[in-house]
Formats: sequence, structure tokens, C-alpha cells
Amino acid sequence: MVRKKTTVVGAGNVGATTGYMLATRDLGDVVLIDIVEGLAKGKALDIAEAAGVYPFASAVTGTTEWAATAGSDIVIITSGMPRKPGMSRDDLLAKNAEIVKSVTTQAVKHSPQAFIIVVCNPLDAMVYLAAKVSGLAANKVMGMAGALDSARFAHFIATELGVSIADVKGVLMGGHGDDMVPLPRFTTVGGIPLTELMSAEKIEELTERTRKGGIEIVNLLGYSAYYAPAAGAVKMAEAIIKDKKTVMSCCAYCQAEYGVGGAFVGVPVVLGAGGVEKIVELDLNEMEKKAFAKSVAHVKQLSAKVDKLIR
Ligand code: LAC
Repeated sequence: MVRKKTTVVGAGNVGATTGYMLATRDLGDVVLIDIVEGLAKGKALDIAEAAGVYPFASAVTGTTEWAATAGSDIVIITSGMPRKPGMSRDDLLAKNAEIVKSVTTQAVKHSPQAFIIVVCNPLDAMVYLAAKVSGLAANKVMGMAGALDSARFAHFIATELGVSIADVKGVLMGGHGDDMVPLPRFTTVGGIPLTELMSAEKIEELTERTRKGGIEIVNLLGYSAYYAPAAGAVKMAEAIIKDKKTVMSCCAYCQAEYGVGGAFVGVPVVLGAGGVEKIVELDLNEMEKKAFAKSVAHVKQLSAKVDKLIR
């Protein structure tokens, strides 16, 4: 079997960690690309040498040249400005729109068959931009946010209940912003609904911490999180590479689904060899519907700003 090839755009914290995880999980060959001379090459060489300790088959290379990315099956876009304390994800819009537009154009030129997974912020708007610029079918362009946000929710729940995080399945929808919509009714612990195991007050406290999970880390580190974001992107790539039919939340194109009417926003999906193969439609109650509609409205506003920026 020919090994799959994944290009990771940006060899900063998220990009390099994504490359390292892809390689150590033996998910195929990895090309790291970055405009900073030596950065991708250095990180790639370091990752490749790690295989001398814990062996993996993936070839890992670094480059500044788009030609080296040709024929990739998946392109993961991590390049962009990260958040600093005091900044919202939305503050990154103009700068990152320029970067994402440029790298998406290059990526599809060299890998016209690739699936694109966007990781940079503001996430939902950057996915919209990548879809628009690439001209790829909607099932091939998606964003990593739900995996990260539901992982944070799961971590807080597991810690609070003193149970294995492997048994916690957090479910969450909406945009990757402060108005994201954690869904306790659909979140389970060993198959048991979270609402059976925790008080409404405690659930509210943990959902609020989840919504602010990104800034909590920015305030500690002075820059954005990268281990959990990279893990989220790798899980999505793995679902596509191995055709796993994984049910997870990610930013995907919704038309009739949830009455969204044409936007990229966080929803539960089935991810497999066809990319976003299906959007899972949950029967939301009135409160959940309202919260989701608010988040979708915000995402649409940002996407409209993208339209103006790239015109
Ligand atoms: C976060 C940033 C990366 O949620 O959006 O950590």
C-alpha cells in the first residue's frame, strides 16, 4: 500500500506538534512547510530522528517549496498569527485571511485532490475562506475546533467526576468562539447522560470553562494552545486516512442541516475516506436551538467580513 501523504502548513507550535503526532501514529508521510527558512527543515529533521528512539515508518521532511507538497492527500493549515493575551480569535481575521488565502491557493495548485483541514483562527471564517478560494467540494474542506472544544469539556468532566476520560464523550456545536454550544444532554460518561451524573450548576460551570478554554491557556502561556489542537487535527486526518467513519464535531458546511442555510460551522459529523460524509442532526431543544442560532449568526457575520477582505 502506498503511504498517504499529509502536508502541514506552518511549522510553529501547532504545525510541528501535528507533524510529530502524525508520524508517531504512523499515519503516512509528512511534509512540513513554512516560509521561515530552516524552521520546517529543522523541525522535520528532529521529528525524523525521534524515530531512531521510537521507530515509525513515516518519512518526515521540511521545506519552504510548495512543489515538495505535490500530491498530498490531506493538507492541514496551521499557519497564521496566534492569539496573545487580550486578543479574541476574531481579532486575527484580517491578517490570517491573507495568509490562509495565499497558502490555500498554493496547496490546491499542487494537491488538487487533497482534503483541507483548517486549524487557524477565527476558525469558522478561515474554513469558509479556504473553501471559497480552493473551489473544492464542501465535503473536502473542514475545520478543527469541535475535537478540541469537546476534548476540553471531556477533561473538565472527567476530572470533576474522577473517572476515565476515555469514557467521556463530550458533544458540542456552533462556532469556535465564546458562543460555542456545549451540549450536556448529548454528552455521556460510560454511556450515561452527563445530566444524570452532575448538577445543573456544576455543568454550567464546566461549559463556561470550556467556552473560555482557549483564553485560559493563552493567559497562562502568553500564546495559544497547541498539544490539544494538534491532537484534534490528527484525529480528523486519521479518520479520513483510515476511513474510520468517526463521529465527532468539526466545522463543516451546512445547508439545510439545522436550518443553517449555507455556512461552515461546528456540527457533529461522520468523517471517513469521503471527508465529511454526513452531518449528524440532533433533535435540539428550544434553548439549544437558540444558542446554536446565535453562534451561527456570529459565524456568518465573520464570513461576510472575509468576503469583503478577499474581494
Ligand atoms: C484555542 C485556540 C487555538 O482554542 O483557538 O486554544
